[in-house]
Amino acid sequence: MRNVILDCDPGHDDALAILLAAGHLNVLGITTVAGNQTIDNVTSNALKILTVAGLTHIPVARGMAGPLVPTSRQKPDVHGPDFHGETGLDGPDLPEPTISPDRRHAVDFIIETIRSHDEVTLVPTGPLTNIALALRREPSIVGGIREISLMGGGLTHGNVSAAAEFNILMDPEAAHIVFTCGAPVKMCGINLTRQVMATPVEADRMRAIGNRTGQVVAELLDFFLGTCEKLFGLPGGPLHDPCAVVPLIDTTLIEFEPMRVDIELYGEHTYGMTLCDHRHLLLGDGEIKRIGKRMGDPPYTEVGLRIDRERFFDLLTNTLAAYP
Ligand code: RIB
Ligand code: CA
Repeated sequence: MRNVILDCDPGHDDALAILLAAGHLNVLGITTVAGNQTIDNVTSNALKILTVAGLTHIPVARGMAGPLVPTSRQKPDVHGPDFHGETGLDGPDLPEPTISPDRRHAVDFIIETIRSHDEVTLVPTGPLTNIALALRREPSIVGGIREISLMGGGLTHGNVSAAAEFNILMDPEAAHIVFTCGAPVKMCGINLTRQVMATPVEADRMRAIGNRTGQVVAELLDFFLGTCEKLFGLPGGPLHDPCAVVPLIDTTLIEFEPMRVDIELYGEHTYGMTLCDHRHLLLGDGEIKRIGKRMGDPPYTEVGLRIDRERFFDLLTNTLAAYP
């Protein structure tokens, strides 16, 4: 099975990414980064999710509590707790974790794990601070990274602002380091992840699985759907983070398109934007057509364009059914 490290900020959708990955991939470890909640809360949440699902063999290493270059433009007081609650996993009554964090910092854990395993895939689903610092501390690890499959950015727009998506905006400088590091990058942006919105129908589908994990996920979705509707007026809760795991399990569920992606680090209105060069695509009326030759210089990022919603929820449901 593919060796992966999940770098995340649980977070309702991060929790689903953990459960999906652990059901199909060799999860060498989970590293946590502040984002949806504080580093204390997201680390505790990762431990709790592993405890619920009987995955306590997976190590969790605590990471960075904030971005490389903190600025007010990252809007640190916006959104995380609004969407995910005061704990970061509001909704279900989760058990206290039966495991403690790994003694190593996340950055050291990432470096050591890549050095001691063949071909590790990194799956970041939060701000990219840990990954960027690992690449800066030990640039040679790039050779051991099979690919980076991340949730972040957007083909044409953001969510925290018209231009910027949360994971990128919380640390754009880190994102720049990751997108230009030389390892292959897959980007599942919100143009893709909003195609897999969970509604009460999907929450009830998880509840009907009949095991503890399904019940916990259903209650996570009950809460998350409510905040997405209240804050963004969305008809459901987009399951952002599990999208980054999907192509590592089944390459046929998501259609990716290579294109140049640059991270905006200076714009007054566009700071944190993933500027995707899709001049060769015709977007509109629900269709995406290739009409010209790819522009922009390499390296190209594989940007997710379409996902098979039905097969996504089938995969998620079947994976959760295998847990206690
Ligand atoms: O913008 C969505 C992303 O921000 C998701 O990863 C969510 O968990 C939050 O981290
Ligand atoms: Ca996340």
